Amino acid sequence: MKRIGILTAGGDTPALNATIHGAVVRANELKIELYGFIKGFNCFFNPRVPHVHLNPLYQSIPELDPTKGGTLIGSSRDYVDPEKGAELDAITIRLKKLCIDGLIAIGGDGTLNGLQPLAERLPTVLAPKTIDNDLGLNYPSEPDEWVRIPDAAEPHGYRYSRTDSNVIFDLNQLVNYATPGYATAVMVTTQGIYRVRTTAESHRRIAIIEVMGRNSGYIALGSAYGQPDIILLPEVPLNMDRIVERVRYLYDLQKNVVIVCGEGIVDEQGRELGAASKSTDPAGNVALSGAAEALRARLCEVLGDNYFQKYRRGSSAREAIFTRKVGHTQRGGRPILFDRFFAAQLGSKAVDLLVEGRNNAVSILQYGEEKGFHVEGYDANRFRDRWGHIHARFLHPALYDPKLMKPSKLGIDYLKRIFTGAIGHDDAEHWRQTMFDAGNLAQPYHSINTDVHKRIHYLE
Ligand code: F6P
Repeated sequence: MKRIGILTAGGDTPALNATIHGAVVRANELKIELYGFIKGFNCFFNPRVPHVHLNPLYQSIPELDPTKGGTLIGSSRDYVDPEKGAELDAITIRLKKLCIDGLIAIGGDGTLNGLQPLAERLPTVLAPKTIDNDLGLNYPSEPDEWVRIPDAAEPHGYRYSRTDSNVIFDLNQLVNYATPGYATAVMVTTQGIYRVRTTAESHRRIAIIEVMGRNSGYIALGSAYGQPDIILLPEVPLNMDRIVERVRYLYDLQKNVVIVCGEGIVDEQGRELGAASKSTDPAGNVALSGAAEALRARLCEVLGDNYFQKYRRGSSAREAIFTRKVGHTQRGGRPILFDRFFAAQLGSKAVDLLVEGRNNAVSILQYGEEKGFHVEGYDANRFRDRWGHIHARFLHPALYDPKLMKPSKLGIDYLKRIFTGAIGHDDAEHWRQTMFDAGNLAQPYHSINTDVHKRIHYLE
């Protein structure tokens, strides 16, 4: 391998530059050129294939800072369509002209699906990223449990469902234990919960905090570090009676309640509370919004205004119950140590996998009792179900206690492995030194895009 291409696809995370940096460091050691493709797969639809040489003379360009969130090469939710043979041919020719020997895509389950048609035309490897932490498997045989059910209402004429599992869940069997970006997202969410808590305490209010994660509850589960009273996951249908009973008990006791809900929570019938909007992601992912508001409406209805008036804690339920979305702050900013460190290792491993000839492999982060966290290679085909589709990982029910509406004992064990020591001393020091940097008052923000733009080359 003399020249490798790299791109970042899908929603960004704080650890993308760290992954790219890990790949650059390894490429420098192996004397391989690394070209960064601008704006994910979108770059391939442009005949000029805008790209940046990330390691001229086998040295990293100074703009590549592993401690900076986002991605210096940009990202998009565009993917190649496996049905469009001519388009795939054109892309392959463009990459050949650029002398690209292999491609690393940094992405999640959508990106891995999108990579499949390309893997038949040139060597590809995926380095994982997603704040949702849903790229992976609860156990290696999980893809075999998917079934496809004919359904005329669905766009492709079928929908996917799961058969019952007979596997004994074991944390050490998880394939890709955690994904870069997840730890930082949980850190941001946890900070948000602490801050909302004290204001809810002061004003005797019930707060519903909506966190990201689509249909996966990992971010909501991790938010347990902020000690919310109730955590609601997309994987577990709401039990309104239990929620209301718990809210009443806590509100009587402490005069405030903090509820965290994943954006993909579903009602008793399994219907999403948040509205779904379309996405171009080949994994069929949808963007969800409004779950917290929908839950608030239901709580207002059940509790009623009288409940709050009786205690003199507000003139109406709508006044006392409020919602906040943590939103895109979860996806941005400086990555914490856990994310930076393992993102870099996964990027480096992706280069090695290409060099070893492991076409269509994924670099994954594994946990073993003896080794602790370590990176490995895993064949993408092993993520695919019988029809070739790669599904987002659902949080395993064993990690959650639906009665307490909090992480189970196993869930706590899962989280401790990631978060104990996840923040480095430099993370805290960086915040202390930069937050009120007087220079920020006078200087405009300098965007990385301005500098990287000067380095963009095109295929002529
Ligand atoms: O997949 C990452 C993610 O941040 C989800 O948690 C969220 O639902 C979605 O992307 C939001 O997408 P967008 O930023 O495109 O609205």
